[in-house]
Amino acid sequence: MSDARVEEPRPDPATSPNEAELAEAGLRLDVDGAIATITLNRPERRNALTFATWRGLAGIGESLPDGVRVVVLRGAGPSFSAGIDLGMFSGGGFPDGADAAASDRFIAGLQESSTWLRRPEIVSIAAVHGHAIGGGFQLALSCDIRVIADDTKFCMKEPALGIVPDLTGTKPLVEIVGVNRALELCLTARTVLADEAARLGLAEYVVPRADLDKTVDELVTALLAVNPGAAVATKRLLLEAPGNTLEEQCAAERREQIGRLRELFGSQNA
Ligand code: ACO
Repeated sequence: MSDARVEEPRPDPATSPNEAELAEAGLRLDVDGAIATITLNRPERRNALTFATWRGLAGIGESLPDGVRVVVLRGAGPSFSAGIDLGMFSGGGFPDGADAAASDRFIAGLQESSTWLRRPEIVSIAAVHGHAIGGGFQLALSCDIRVIADDTKFCMKEPALGIVPDLTGTKPLVEIVGVNRALELCLTARTVLADEAARLGLAEYVVPRADLDKTVDELVTALLAVNPGAAVATKRLLLEAPGNTLEEQCAAERREQIGRLRELFGSQNA
């Protein structure tokens, strides 16, 4: 079992993408104290995702200010995201004639667009409406909590296009719905509407479209009201649980609690 408390050092904040680079990537970033809101912002293309978008998301993750505790991911316009930009689906941009190791590094770089959303230091919320297809669905799956509008349509379309979902979405999908349902959803590439998504556990909240922003705001307020140290320790603990035996998880609970008690009452009491 790995020690989940070993944290990667935060990379140099100098890697932060500037506003022009974010705009080029179809992204907008608004940081307001403890809240960072990332908007997929190419509504005229239904927020289709390009390599620049994925690099931009990774850059935001790398340079997120330390005080940010909640990250909200939302889409501008009629839909959350139509997935990969089909204009680049021909393979253009994929390293030409690359060997397996170079291709592996290339895809790993794209996956960094989403892995940081699991960091214990933040709670990530996907605010989804309209279509969330392929890479868009996977991006929503990478978040800790999904608040979805009643017009949401999830679809894991990759296998229908001859590829696999590779943007870190298969693990949360299987953890949420189980291998059999995940297989059925991926291999039929069918659309899952909001009601079914809620039944399958793919959304923590389903609300009328008009209430999406308000619901997210209320959720953010509730999350920020919790003790920050306890929030980080609890997320770390919960993330460990699926991979741990009961014994390991009990030990993890003791370890995290001792850390909390030391923090709250000083080391002489814990
Ligand atoms: N890539 C590039 N452009 C797109 C994409 C996309 N994935 N999706 C939509 N667009 C463009 C359309 O071409 C259209 O452009 P135009 O105005 O120049 O004609 C514009 O966005 C609006 O699209 P509409 O289809 O008119 O919008 P609508 O809201 O009716 O439908 C929907 C949205 C359902 C998302 C539809 O556009 C669609 O099916 N898109 C393709 C989805 C797809 O197959 N994605 C790949 C998933 S696999 C993966 O992500 C790895």
